[in-house]
Amino acid sequence: MSEEQHPILNQLEQIQQDALAVLETAVDEAGITAWRSAHLGRTSPVMTVFSQMGQFPKELRPLVGQRANQVKLALEAALAEQAERVRQAELAQKLAAETLDVTLPGRPQTLGRLHPITQTLREIYRVMGEMGFQVYRARDVETDDYNFTLLNIPPHHPARDMWDTYYMTTPGMVLRTHTSPGQIRAMREYAPDPIRVILPGMCYRYEQVSARSEIQFNQVELLAVGKGITFGDLKGTLTDFARRMFGQNVRTRLRPSYFPFTEPSAEMDVECFVCGGKGCQVCKSSGWLEILGCGMVHPKVLENGGYDPREFTGFAAGMGPERITMLRHRIDDIRYFWSDDVRFLEQF
Ligand code: DAH
Repeated sequence: MSEEQHPILNQLEQIQQDALAVLETAVDEAGITAWRSAHLGRTSPVMTVFSQMGQFPKELRPLVGQRANQVKLALEAALAEQAERVRQAELAQKLAAETLDVTLPGRPQTLGRLHPITQTLREIYRVMGEMGFQVYRARDVETDDYNFTLLNIPPHHPARDMWDTYYMTTPGMVLRTHTSPGQIRAMREYAPDPIRVILPGMCYRYEQVSARSEIQFNQVELLAVGKGITFGDLKGTLTDFARRMFGQNVRTRLRPSYFPFTEPSAEMDVECFVCGGKGCQVCKSSGWLEILGCGMVHPKVLENGGYDPREFTGFAAGMGPERITMLRHRIDDIRYFWSDDVRFLEQF
């Protein structure tokens, strides 16, 4: 029997051919892995030849070993090639599936923006902050006492008619009709130290909603308490505020008025910034726009806050951010602010 004729050599040839034929059907990573373990794994035909070397005639063993090794190397080389082909094909497929057309127009990103009232509020905080006033937050649900009585508006006093009030079902509780009750809260917290605060927040009034009045709106209250504070300080502070808010050259004036919690009381007008004082629709031909109420804190209110009115004085003011925003942007209906209408909101 010649060496060439020993069946193991033909068998090795067959092993190689069979394995290579099957390799062509391994077209993905899973197929490659399966093929590797079937044809090069420990129990694969070619590896079995190695482990059973003892069965072959001694003189034949080197040749069988050499051939088996060649088969193994050939299979490994073919595997590497096929694996690379599969990898390239999978990559190409992935690239085709995930094509990104960079020439397409982008999707528009709609940005939110601050509500016009928030913008005005922040401007007031900034201006008053520069003048040394801190923000003090008081509550929206108040007692009748804080909202009225402690502000020198006793029960049944006709001055209560100035505010149409939402009463809570709990007796003695109301939704605050103005930010002024915060004055008492701030004073009772700080007395006998000096105070310089602004009190912003939502106020509520049981009114007919119209172009000029809402049942819910903001106010910003100002309060300064200390020794030796005069009406001159009130006027100076408010004039400075108006200049910083509306422009350095804006003219202001104070008119006498009445509020139960201040004495004397006044209202401040700024020169109409629409017509510059000449007279127009916005200022109703007067040339002036009313922007706030103010006055020297009433001695009774100081006392209710815990300050001795013989030692301490103070000034207060209250303004409406909605009204200021309407005047500035010539908005003719307060209801727009709650309308959720983006055509309105987008203008700011
Ligand atoms: N609380 C008043 C209102 O809502 C506004 C006001 C007027 C506040 C004069 C003040 C002030 O602090 O001094 O109508």
